[in-house]
Amino acid sequence: MSAVSAGALPLDVARLRGDFPVLGQRINGQPLAYLDNGASSQRPRAVIDAERRYAEEMHANVHRGVHTLSQRATDAFEAARERVRRFLNARSSREIVFTRGTTEAINLVAQSFVRPRVGPGDEILITWLEHHANIVPWQMACEATGAVLTVAPIDRRGELDLDAFRSLLSPRTRLVAAAHVSNALGTVLPVAEIVTAAHAQGVPVLLDGAQAVPHFKVDVEALDCDFYAFSGHKLYGPDGIGVLYGRESLLAAMPPWQGGGDMILSVSFAGTTYNRLPFKFEAGTPHISGAIGLAAAIDYVDGVGLDRIAAWERELLQYATERLERIDGLKIIGTARHKASLVSFVVDGVHPHDLGTILDQAGIAIRTGHHCAMPVMEFFGVPATARASFALYNTRAEVDRLAAAVAAARAMFR
Ligand code: ALA
Repeated sequence: MSAVSAGALPLDVARLRGDFPVLGQRINGQPLAYLDNGASSQRPRAVIDAERRYAEEMHANVHRGVHTLSQRATDAFEAARERVRRFLNARSSREIVFTRGTTEAINLVAQSFVRPRVGPGDEILITWLEHHANIVPWQMACEATGAVLTVAPIDRRGELDLDAFRSLLSPRTRLVAAAHVSNALGTVLPVAEIVTAAHAQGVPVLLDGAQAVPHFKVDVEALDCDFYAFSGHKLYGPDGIGVLYGRESLLAAMPPWQGGGDMILSVSFAGTTYNRLPFKFEAGTPHISGAIGLAAAIDYVDGVGLDRIAAWERELLQYATERLERIDGLKIIGTARHKASLVSFVVDGVHPHDLGTILDQAGIAIRTGHHCAMPVMEFFGVPATARASFALYNTRAEVDRLAAAVAAARAMFR
C-alpha cells in the first residue's frame, strides 16, 4: 500500500481505506478494485453514520414544526448548508441551493435564469467537452425560446480551443456553461480564462463542478463564476443531493423554478409571495438526510485534506497513464496537459463493454460507454471508451491489477 507526501503531511491510503466499509469485499472471488469514482464514489463510515444518526435521533420535516425534532432537523439541515458555503467559500448561505444533483442544478439555471432572459437569436455558449447534463438543458431552453446553442471546439488532446472560445463570445451571448473537469476525458478546463473572457463581455458563467470538487479545492469567490453545480455522490456523500451555488444578485432576480411548500411566504388565490433566498428554489420537503450526509462527506474530505488528495490522485493518474500506455494496442483518449483523476482508453479489437465485463470478473470496476458525453466520443471517432477514475482510496496495486487485466483481455481477443 502506498503513501504520498504533500509537504509535511503524508496521505495514509491503507488507513483511509479502512474508513470505507464497501472496499473490504471480494467481487467474483477477487478483492474489489473500485475504479469507477467518476460515476459515483464510495462513502466513508462517517457519512453512513451521520445519515443513520439523523434517522435514529432527529428525523422530522424542516422549517415547519415548533416541536423539538423538527427544530433539530432544521438546525442540522441549515448547518449542512453553512458547511457547503464554507467548502465553496461562497459569501452567503443564501447562495447555496440544495438540489437533487448537478443535473437538477443546471436545469434550474436553464429554466429560471436563461429561459426568461433569452429570445430568438440569443446564444448560449458551451464547450465540446460537456456532459449531456450541460448540453440538453440548454437545448431545451433554446427550443422553447428560439435561442441558439453554440459550441466551442476542442483539439486532439481534448483541450479547449481558447481562442475559438473567445471568438464565439458575441454580443448575443447570454450565458457561458462549461465543465470544470471533463467527465469523459479528465481535461481540467481553463476556467479562470473562461470566466475572464466571458465577464469582459458582461456574460455570466455557469461551471459544472461535478468532476472537480472531489479532486481539488474549489473557491467560487476566487473563480468569480456566477453559478457552480456539483453532486454529493461523487464527493463521498449520498446520492440524490447536490448543490447549486449562485451569485446572490442573480438568484434574487430569478423567478422560482418549481412551486410548492417552503418556497412561499404567503399563498392566496389572488397570488403568492415567494420565500427569501435560498428557500425560493427549494419547493417541497428537501433531501434532509442527504444534506446532512453531504456535510459529513465535506468534513471527511476536508479532514483528509484536498491538497493531499489532489497530490495522491495526480501520482496515481501519472502511474496509470504510464502503465496503460505500455500495453500494445491501447490508446488513451484525452491527453490534455492538465488532467484530473481519470484515464479513458480504447483497446484494439476489444469492445469497451467486453473489457468492462472481463475486468469485473477480475474484481475491477470501471465504467465503459459514452459516459453521457456522446459529442466527445463522436469527436474522437469512437463509440465508447473504457474509463478508470480514481479516488483518494485507490492504490498503485489496483492500477497494476487494472493494467494486467487489460493486457490479458487484449491477448484473449487477439
Ligand atoms: N456523470 C457520471 C459519469 O461520468 C455518471 O460517469
